[in-house]
Amino acid sequence: MDFKESLHQLIEERLASYLLVVVSNREPYIHTFSGDEIECLRPASGLTVALDPVMRAAAGVWIAHGSGDADRAVVDSSSRVMVPPENPQYALRRVWLSKEEEDGYYYGFANDAMWPLCHIAFTPPTFNEADWNTYKKVNSLFAEVILQEVGTNQAIILVQDYHFALLPRMIKAQNPQLIVGQFWHIPWPNYEIFRICPWQEEILDGLLGNDILGFHIQYHCNNFLETADRAIECRIDREKFAVIWGGKTTLVRPFPISVDFEALSAEASTGKVEREMKALRHRWGLGNKLVGIGIDRIDYTKGIPERLRALDRFFEKYPEYIGRMVFIQLGTSSRVRVEKYREINERIDHLVEEINRKYESASWEPIIYVKELASPVTLAALRRIADFCMVSSLHDGMNLVAKEFVSSRIDEDGVLILSQFCGAAWELSDALVINPYATDEFAETIKKAVEMPQEEKMVRMRRMREQVRENDIYHWGIALFSELAKLRP
Ligand code: G6P
Repeated sequence: MDFKESLHQLIEERLASYLLVVVSNREPYIHTFSGDEIECLRPASGLTVALDPVMRAAAGVWIAHGSGDADRAVVDSSSRVMVPPENPQYALRRVWLSKEEEDGYYYGFANDAMWPLCHIAFTPPTFNEADWNTYKKVNSLFAEVILQEVGTNQAIILVQDYHFALLPRMIKAQNPQLIVGQFWHIPWPNYEIFRICPWQEEILDGLLGNDILGFHIQYHCNNFLETADRAIECRIDREKFAVIWGGKTTLVRPFPISVDFEALSAEASTGKVEREMKALRHRWGLGNKLVGIGIDRIDYTKGIPERLRALDRFFEKYPEYIGRMVFIQLGTSSRVRVEKYREINERIDHLVEEINRKYESASWEPIIYVKELASPVTLAALRRIADFCMVSSLHDGMNLVAKEFVSSRIDEDGVLILSQFCGAAWELSDALVINPYATDEFAETIKKAVEMPQEEKMVRMRRMREQVRENDIYHWGIALFSELAKLRP
C-alpha cells in the first residue's frame, strides 16, 4: 500500500468521528477576476503545496484569509467554497479581514516581526505595538470562526505557522475538548535571538495551548525547548520531549514536511512538460549550454544575492565557462508592502544587471531573471532542463524547491546545490551542501556541479529520489495525524 492510501486509511479508521480543521493565513485556492472571468489560482507556498493533498485525503474544512479579489464572489452564505474546483473534495472557509487588519497582522507583526525573528538572516525584526495588537485581534477573529465551524463536533484543529502563535491558547480556553496541534513551517531560533521579542511570554503561552507543536527538524524542537525553559517558569520533560506549563502538557516533535513525489514524477514525464522543455530551450536560446536554475519566492532569507555573488566569482575564476553556461532565476514577488522586501527586490535587480553587464556578449548573458508567475508545467519543465539547481537559503525551515527538483528528475540526472541552513539538508545528504556566505567555496561547488561525472550524478540523484519517495507528503501526514490520533480521550 502506498502512503497516500495509508493516510486515507488512518483518517477513515482512527479519525472518522472527528472533524478535521486546518487553519492557515494563506488559502490553498485564490479566486481573482481576469476581465469578466473568474480565475482560480494556487499560491506559491510550500505550506499550501504540502497540505492540499492531506486535506483532500481528509475531506475536512480549511479556514484561511480570503485574499483574492473574486473570493467573495464564489462563496456561499457561510463564506465557504468547495475545492479543488475541478474535483471538489473539501470546504474552504474564508475569513475576511479589513485592510487595516491585514496591514497590522500580516504585513506588520507576522511578516515584519515574527518572520525575521525566526529566520537568522541578519535582518532585524520591527516590533510595533499597534501591529502586535492587530495580530492579537486577528488571532481571536480566527478563533471565533474555528469555534463556530466546529460547533458541538469532536474536532482536530491543525493550526499552521507563525501567523497564529496566539490562536491555540484562545481556542483551547474556550473548548478544552478540542485536539489542537500546530505546525511551525519556519525555523525556531535559539533563545539568544528570541529573547529580543518584547512579547515573548505571550507568544510562548499561546503556543503552549497546543497539545502538539511540530517543527521540521529536531534542531528547531531543541531550540524551542531551550527557549521555553529560559523564558518562562515552565517544566521541561526531556524524556517525553514536552513542555508543562500551567498544568498542561505540549509535546514538541519533528515532522519533516515534503512533496507529493509520485505526482511530481508522473507530471514530469508528460508530453505537455516535454513540449514545454523544448519551448523554453528555444525561448532562451539555450542550445547546448549548461543550465543552472533557481526558483524562489523573493525573500531576503533565500540567499539570492549570495547565489549571484557565487556565480560572479565562478565566471571570474573560470572564464572558460563564459558564453557556455546560463543561470535562470525564477522569482515570485512577495510581501512587497514590507520595506525589507522592496529592498531585497532592488538589490537583486541591481546585482543581476551588474553581473550581466560584466560578462555579456552580443548573443549571450549569464543570468536570465524571470519575474512572472510560472505554471506547474513550466516549473516542471524548468526543473527538467537544468544541469543543476541552486537552493542557497540563509535559513529555511525545510525548503520544498529542493524536494520538487529531485521529484521531477525522472531521468536521475541533475545536481542539487543545497544550503546547509535548510531543513532539507538534514535529509538530502547527496546534494552538494554549501555555506551560502562562503562565496569562494560556493563558486567551487558550482564548478564541481557542472563537471561532475555522469555516473556520480546519477548515483546521487537516485539516492535523493529514494529519500523523497520514502518520505513524501503523505508520510508526513501519517506521522502527524498518528500523533494527533493518540491524543483522543
Ligand atoms: C512560507 C510560510 C508560509 C507562507 C509562504 C508564502 O512558506 O511558511 O506560511 O504561506 O511562505 O508566503 P505568503 O506570505 O505569500 O503566504
